[in-house]
Amino acid sequence: MDDLDAVAAIEGRRSIRKFKPEPVARQLLEELLKLAGCAPSCDNNQPWKFVVLEGQVKDEVIEVIHNKATSLKKDEVAIGSCLENVRSMRQSPAIVMVYRINPEEDEEAELPSYRGDITDALSIGAAIENFLVAATAKGLGTLWIRDVLLADEEINEIIKEEGRLMSALAVGHAVEQPSSGERKPLTEFVSWRE
Ligand SMILES: Cc1cc2nc3c(=O)[nH]c(=O)nc-3n(C[C@H](O)[C@H](O)[C@H](O)COP(=O)(O)O)c2cc1C
Repeated sequence: MDDLDAVAAIEGRRSIRKFKPEPVARQLLEELLKLAGCAPSCDNNQPWKFVVLEGQVKDEVIEVIHNKATSLKKDEVAIGSCLENVRSMRQSPAIVMVYRINPEEDEEAELPSYRGDITDALSIGAAIENFLVAATAKGLGTLWIRDVLLADEEINEIIKEEGRLMSALAVGHAVEQPSSGERKPLTEFVSWRE
């Protein structure tokens, strides 16, 4: 299948929550990660690191997320859609953990535009969106998951990656193409000034 063009991929991307058991070739994942790394970043600092989990490590990480979410839920702490996301992650053949590197260089700057926590989060979001859109263009489904942050300490005990965990991305072959969530009309989120 040919890649979709950029507009079709942006329009066609959906959050996928059911995946087929089919694997995704490492070469294809590498291609997506390379495209993620094409994102703009402040001063070209590229503050991201991607850790791809497959096989046994993936299972271990999902288990600690499941256990933590279950115990928080028992204590009546809000866990969002974490347990549903655990189901999706179990199905997806690979999970990409996204880290922010060098977060300690933070918060000293006087100008808000130089604040690393803001600019790094923006840059990492851009890289993640590249990954999602590229995956869509290549016929794959993805889910952006912040709910893994409920178990960030437990995850880091396994992955032992420096930097701050920002999100996880499930990637695989979609079972279905969900319909698009409603979007605000242009008039609600754009204003023109002259
Ligand atoms: C920063 C961010 C974090 C998200 N975290 C989660 C999450 O933890 N669990 C989940 O099911 N979806 C998560 N999503 C997906 C959103 O729910 C989804 O993008 C939104 O409902 C719009 O649907 P669509 O992606 O199909 O267009 C996240 C999206 C973003 C941008």
